Amino acid sequence: MARESESGLPIEPVYGPDALDGWDPAVRLGEPGAYPFTRGVYPTMYTGRPWTMRQYAGFGTATESNARYRQLIEHGTTGLSVAFDLPTQMGHDSDAPLAHGEVGKVGVAVDSIDDMRVLFEGIPLDKVSTSMTINAPAALLLLLYQLVAEEQGVRADRLTGTIQNDVLKEYIARGTYIFPPKPSLRLIADIFKYCRTEIPRWNTISISGYHMAEAGASPAQEIAFTLANGIEYVRTAVAAGMDVDDFAPRLSFFFVARTTLLEEVAKFRAARRIWARVMREEFGARNPKSTMLRFHTQTAGVQLTAQQPEVNLVRVSVQALAAVLGGTQSLHTNSFDEAIALPTDKSARLALRTQQVLAHETDVTATVDPFAGSYAVERMTDDVEAATVELMAKVEEMGGSVAAIEHGFQKGEIERNAYRIAQETDAGERVVVGVNRFTVDEEEPYEPLRVDPAIEARQAERLAALRAERDRPAVDSALSELKKAAEGEDNVLHPMKEALRARATVGEVCNALREVWGTYVPSDAF
Ligand code: 3HC
Repeated sequence: MARESESGLPIEPVYGPDALDGWDPAVRLGEPGAYPFTRGVYPTMYTGRPWTMRQYAGFGTATESNARYRQLIEHGTTGLSVAFDLPTQMGHDSDAPLAHGEVGKVGVAVDSIDDMRVLFEGIPLDKVSTSMTINAPAALLLLLYQLVAEEQGVRADRLTGTIQNDVLKEYIARGTYIFPPKPSLRLIADIFKYCRTEIPRWNTISISGYHMAEAGASPAQEIAFTLANGIEYVRTAVAAGMDVDDFAPRLSFFFVARTTLLEEVAKFRAARRIWARVMREEFGARNPKSTMLRFHTQTAGVQLTAQQPEVNLVRVSVQALAAVLGGTQSLHTNSFDEAIALPTDKSARLALRTQQVLAHETDVTATVDPFAGSYAVERMTDDVEAATVELMAKVEEMGGSVAAIEHGFQKGEIERNAYRIAQETDAGERVVVGVNRFTVDEEEPYEPLRVDPAIEARQAERLAALRAERDRPAVDSALSELKKAAEGEDNVLHPMKEALRARATVGEVCNALREVWGTYVPSDAF
């Protein structure tokens, strides 16, 4: 009797040669590092260079987060990944009424160039690659990063890193949007154009399935809705006059890794093959780099339990192994205590050590795509691919991602799947160790890391000092230049950079754009 996978596909108890009837590896697989990249985006994969160990971190003020980044670098992390607090992500200053209670809570508070300078104090920006999880105000944080690098004497064309900059999934699943879709897509196209000439090694977007997965999307839904968003971004940039090979090599992706390892490996392999085909056949990409789906993975936060939290160490290890066997380029492993509170220094170190054991003590880096030719994984890769392509076609029939979002399609599909998972868990059909089976009577007490509530007051004082010291007329004139560009067709990043250089705050820049573009009001269709 076949078991059902997370995507609702059969997993046969035994696979044999018939699972791959008429299956031609030369067509279905190709070579590692060659189209359609089923086996991985680089010819040598981890035998050439291990994935980037990129731990998502950030809390409190820039001072606290800077200390955590230095500690992670000291413990061997090979890439930085900045978590911003919600006021920053929503384009509000720390002393705005809407910011109250959230300053420095789920990430670091960045209000101005002053905070960005502190955030990277003592970290040479030509020596690290930095991911920034920022969406609606992504342009601002990228420009602040460039301005701070300039102060360090680092040229913009030496900078490497990524901004998430994926607002469509914010409308679907995460919610940190500001502007309506049209100006948001215009801003994303402006970023693509700006980076092509100013910061050519920068990955301009991290098209994310992670948050949709965390909201309940199945693997097939996660890939389908993410790639459909990717198609929307490519269409936007082409419509803005860019040649696909001018920006596509710097698109990147971000997925989850669930505990269901086999289907996750199949999911990653299928995603690469689908994207390669879309970019070559639909968009006529000629540069092989335009058809490579390079991605970051984070282990599944939603599968962490608050009960017996040390069991999460096992889950994260299996999930990390799934990402590595699936060919990820960059990986974040969750800390075992994150279902309870912010990671402590010790739990953050343990999360990184999990990756180091995989990279240095196992043999999974000794050979490329070890599942190639496996009856089970190749059949599951084909099955996930077929289900994903079918779902992408449904989004296309509705007129593409933005139209489908306005119909509430993706949100509805994800919420129905989330409800199914919850029902199966409540009924005990879906085992969650420590939660609905193998429980203990008494949970041991756990002392989480707490964020100092005085942070909000300290950050407000910094803002008051900044506003008192800076050249206000220069800020006002830069902000009015920005509004003029936003009203017209010019790339808004140039006047935006000058406003930020003059110490305009994140809130002031976003408020100037709100005045011109308005803010997004979600459709109530569902
Ligand atoms: N052979 C040849 N070259 C290789 C190689 C190999 N085996 N392995 C790596 N390289 C090269 C690459 O070509 C690249 O060179 P380039 O920059 O000149 O092209 C360089 O080495 C670095 O390799 P990658 O680009 O593969 O690795 P990076 O780590 O630099 O980039 C990425 C990975 C996925 C492309 C990038 O976009 C990235 O780092 N993304 C991270 C996104 C992230 O961290 N997001 C966090 C989200 S957290 C969140 O959303 C909130 C929470 O709620 C979840």
